[in-house]
Amino acid sequence: MAGLRDDHQHNPKLEPAIIVIFGITGDLSKRYLLPSLYHLIKDGLLHEKTEIVGVTRGTLTAKELFDNVVLCGKDSTNVCDPEALKTMQGHTTMFQMDLTSSSDYASLHQKLDAIETANGVCMNRLYYLSIPPQVYMPVIRLLGEQGLNTSCQHGEAMTRLLVEKPFGFNLNSAEELIQETGEVFGEEQVYRIDHYLAKETVQNILTFRFQNPIFEALWSKQYIASISISAHEKIGIEGRATFYEPLGALRDFIQSHLLQVLAIVTMDKPDILDSQHIHTAKQQVMSRIEPVPADKVRERVLRGQYMGYRDEVGNAESVTETYAALTVYIDNQRWQGIPIRLSTGKALSERKTEVRVSFHGASGEPNNHLRFRIQPNEGIELDLLTKKPGFGDELQTTAMDFSYNHDFENHGHPDAYERVLVDAVRGDHTLFATSEEVLASWRVLQPVVEQWAKSSEDLVFYKPGATDVKAPSH
Ligand code: BG6
Repeated sequence: MAGLRDDHQHNPKLEPAIIVIFGITGDLSKRYLLPSLYHLIKDGLLHEKTEIVGVTRGTLTAKELFDNVVLCGKDSTNVCDPEALKTMQGHTTMFQMDLTSSSDYASLHQKLDAIETANGVCMNRLYYLSIPPQVYMPVIRLLGEQGLNTSCQHGEAMTRLLVEKPFGFNLNSAEELIQETGEVFGEEQVYRIDHYLAKETVQNILTFRFQNPIFEALWSKQYIASISISAHEKIGIEGRATFYEPLGALRDFIQSHLLQVLAIVTMDKPDILDSQHIHTAKQQVMSRIEPVPADKVRERVLRGQYMGYRDEVGNAESVTETYAALTVYIDNQRWQGIPIRLSTGKALSERKTEVRVSFHGASGEPNNHLRFRIQPNEGIELDLLTKKPGFGDELQTTAMDFSYNHDFENHGHPDAYERVLVDAVRGDHTLFATSEEVLASWRVLQPVVEQWAKSSEDLVFYKPGATDVKAPSH
């Protein structure tokens, strides 16, 4: 098939697969999944026997679906490669079903079997749940009830479940979700997506730390004074009121993306850099992040909402935070006492995600900051004090700068969702969150969730376009 790989040199592990997308007409699918699948097909990174099945409640045809999706918006030309497009359309079918009807799952089972029969091989089956988290459990149960959690009887192919965050709304519901999912799909079948982990710049933190031993030696409270991980967005909620209103910034961003990045920055070096050892090291450090004490929530956690948000979501009393910042501490030898600040917000002045590691200064304030620029202007930068040329002894902060644009010119890197899809097809769990990690991050935030539910007096309102949000001075 043109566009899809039929050799095994480039990606030896990719196998025939059926990717079933629940919620194919939704925002995530249109903005990320379908464009990523298109790019993988264009670059020949999927097996030639790959089929996409779009689950929908309506009667939409594949053609109508593609007429409404911008697959190549990020390409410089904005024009799709006609061959790749044809391949993708030719391998996408829609399946109309009611997500609550058990018999519809039986029909889905028959459809997947028929696809395998037509292809003459057992295929990996991936169920991508791009649907509201409130309906995860009913769908997962019905998949199990109709035997859709099992693999093809006659081959090695695997069946996998891909779920998007949020994994629960608090510690209790996350525990329930994990336990109930576990009754249908084994942990090795579940891929909990955190697309931040799949970002090239986040993976490069691991490379930076563990392949450059000069920094590993400095990686502790002895040399590091503080760490800050911030993800500022210029966009607001972009019409996603139903998704965002019950969540807010703490659940949408900090529970998942920022605590995962924190684990990558602070974990011990695993003996081996493979999925299992990386997860063990991450779990270890995450289990030592101290839950914010209930009586310190006001002091250590800040929440804000941008003005105009309430009108946007049509709820004049909404107390959902669009900005959240908190300071956490890790109770282990390496990090004890070092403040780690996590912050995220929407409708701020610029889009900027970075990890900033500040080293103790020779005297007083830190002068050396190491900045991982996750996005945009991806790169790594180290601030150094230098002597200003001349007869005086004036100092100046200068930066040693590695930039993806400059150093890897013409080497585009895969989008995070392309990475997510490829890894799920080939069964690599490294860049997905384990149930332990999910629970550990909820444990850290549970007191905040509880305190915030009691009162919203501390909610600060900020103007869209603000550079940052500050706590009101008393
Ligand atoms: C998603 C959040 O996980 O990440 C969104 O639900 C957010 O609210 C998005 O806008 C940001 O992702 P990125 O890759 O654009 O930084």
